[in-house]
Amino acid sequence: ALRATFAPKAQKENRNLNSNLQPQASYKVAVLGAAGGIGQPLSLLIKMSPLVSDLHLYDIANVKGVAADISHCNTPSKVLDFTGASELANCLKGVDVVVIPAGVPRKPGMTRDDLFNINAGIVRDLVSAVADNCPGAFIHIISNPVNSTVPIAAEILKQKGVYDPKKLFGVTTLDVVRANTFVSQRKNLRLIDVDVPVVGGHAGITILPILSKTRPSVSFTDEEIDELTVRIQNAGTEVVEAKAGAGSATLSMAYAAARFVESSLRALDGDADVYECSFVQSDLTDLPFFASRVKIGRKGVEALIPTDLQGLSEYEQKALEALKPELKASIEKGIAFANKQT
Ligand code: NAD
Ligand code: LMR
Repeated sequence: ALRATFAPKAQKENRNLNSNLQPQASYKVAVLGAAGGIGQPLSLLIKMSPLVSDLHLYDIANVKGVAADISHCNTPSKVLDFTGASELANCLKGVDVVVIPAGVPRKPGMTRDDLFNINAGIVRDLVSAVADNCPGAFIHIISNPVNSTVPIAAEILKQKGVYDPKKLFGVTTLDVVRANTFVSQRKNLRLIDVDVPVVGGHAGITILPILSKTRPSVSFTDEEIDELTVRIQNAGTEVVEAKAGAGSATLSMAYAAARFVESSLRALDGDADVYECSFVQSDLTDLPFFASRVKIGRKGVEALIPTDLQGLSEYEQKALEALKPELKASIEKGIAFANKQT
């Protein structure tokens, strides 16, 4: 989908050709945490989207310069900056998609759960403002630990009486992006053809690539399955260690989040063929939230796709059972946090 965003001439021609057929799409997107390591490149990539009319950039500091800089790109959307809690409501009014990469990243030696104490409160407060100002928006949660911050967001939205489980998404697209990259490298496949579903959650062993459902169909040795699974599960840590204290994945994350935003905008715009993996409220397993492939439509999640979880290999079935206690505990921790506050 991002391919189209880098072809302004083609877009223009396309728009002229279809000007009588297609109304110009115009969606408002807000990025909360826009001055951060993810926020900056993500905002730039969203600025490239032909589907966006307004891009609202919010942070607690340093967002004015980011917005001024990005606003000079000659793509359609208008960029506005918002600094600090007093400007958050204005940032959110009328917004269709809210993306939340606000919060602290890991340093070497930390787990994502070690970020809970700081990021849980940040997500709680931001989602509370979303509930008050744009309760119908799609909400994309990037802030870690996703396995807990998404349940926190759900509880806050429930407390405000505006929870729509179809519109709350934990962004796990980076796991799919990584799985596709590593599998195509290992098996010498054309990257554009490769699609690996990744299910479960977004931390350590809760990240479960379903290699048996790789498209195009490809066979792996037991050794390859183990190697690839472990690499995909540890890919975040691979980046944290390479950055050696300077943070975690930001550029690949921005790319992945921009893909998820673009998919959401296409769905809002009526594309009936939008599928992504995401950590959402789910009844595919006995856990209340679970990442799987979902079909996204105008009103959010239209369907959870069960087929990736059917006919699992013995390795995958074992890994699925093994991840459940950790994922369950992370979900419950988030729910308890959100309810302790009221
Ligand atoms: P960063 O520190 O570079 O940027 C975070 C930004 O959030 C900063 O600009 C900061 O000012 C802002 N911020 C802090 N509190 C805020 C608040 N209350 N309201 C608005 N903004 C606030 O961090 P980063 O590298 O961009 O990572 C951000 C988060 O994304 C981390 O929690 C990280 O673990 C997570 N992450 C998730 C994934 C994923 O796959 N879901 C991937 C990479 C990183
Ligand atoms: C990632 O997967 O890169 C992110 O969740 C950041 C991290 O802490 O690993």
